[in-house]
Amino acid sequence: MRIERMDDRCNNCMLCVRDCVAGVWREKEGRPAPVCPSACNLCGHCVAVCPRGAVIHSGLDAGQADRVRRKLIDADVYRETVMSRRSVRQYRDIPVEPEKIEQILDLARYSPTASNAQNVSYIVITNRKLIEDTGRRVFAMGVRAYRWANSIAGRAVLFLFKNNRKVAALERYMAAMDYYIPQWKAGRDYILHNAPVLVLVCAPAKADFAVDNCNIAATNIVNYAHALGLGSCYIGFLTLVLKRSRKMRKLLGVPENRKVYASLVLGYPAYRHSFVAPRKQPDVTWR
Ligand SMILES: Cc1cc2nc3c(=O)[nH]c(=O)nc-3n(C[C@H](O)[C@H](O)[C@H](O)COP(=O)(O)O)c2cc1C
Repeated sequence: MRIERMDDRCNNCMLCVRDCVAGVWREKEGRPAPVCPSACNLCGHCVAVCPRGAVIHSGLDAGQADRVRRKLIDADVYRETVMSRRSVRQYRDIPVEPEKIEQILDLARYSPTASNAQNVSYIVITNRKLIEDTGRRVFAMGVRAYRWANSIAGRAVLFLFKNNRKVAALERYMAAMDYYIPQWKAGRDYILHNAPVLVLVCAPAKADFAVDNCNIAATNIVNYAHALGLGSCYIGFLTLVLKRSRKMRKLLGVPENRKVYASLVLGYPAYRHSFVAPRKQPDVTWR
């Protein structure tokens, strides 16, 4: 990897040295120098921080280093975007333009990843039949769990473990199953919400911080989608099923060496939420 300082542009401000946490850039004889290129994790900070554009980095695409437009950063807009985003569970029956999905995923690549691994990938499913089939299979698992929970054996087991947190969560869902089942039969998809797009956020099966990397990207996806007029919803049920079912991973084309750490649906919302949803106060301890 070739990392260089352009002597004629560098003003010796040392910002590259201060900002380089990898220890690539160091002060040498009063000048910044790329002393240890092998330590570079391609985070791009040296290129981004140098006010004079004096860094040459063969591992990075210089064409992407646009100047930051600080005037466009607006705290109120950001706050409103985050506060007004809701999980959308009713979608218009229209497709999402592929360019819009590409635009969203293109932004998500700027999300932080541990050690700048940039190891998040996506499976975008727009095939309606496959989405419906996926929802149906997941719902069928729920129905099976419901039937079991109402069997003599199921009741006995649930009673024995009634103080278990997972059992309490299961019972909460089971309590509404007698409503969900006829609703489902009438066409309401309680799993993927009849959405036109399903996005699986993946990372290597054994990578450290894979869950974090995927869910940070997913958060940027849902917020940016909202800013673009799209609705979204995390589908934890599907993520859980994909964790356990090889058959489902195969159905959705998840590669053997990767795992799905977040599942999202996207689409144009059927209606808007007019008010911000109330939330608990943050639980913060100052020391
Ligand atoms: C990790 C995670 C998993 C979720 N799984 C589901 C799901 O399977 N189905 C669903 O309808 N909503 C799901 N949600 C949405 C939550 O229910 C929702 O975020 C929460 O009720 C707050 O509502 P809001 O997103 O509108 O603020 C999930 C959210 C998260 C963060």
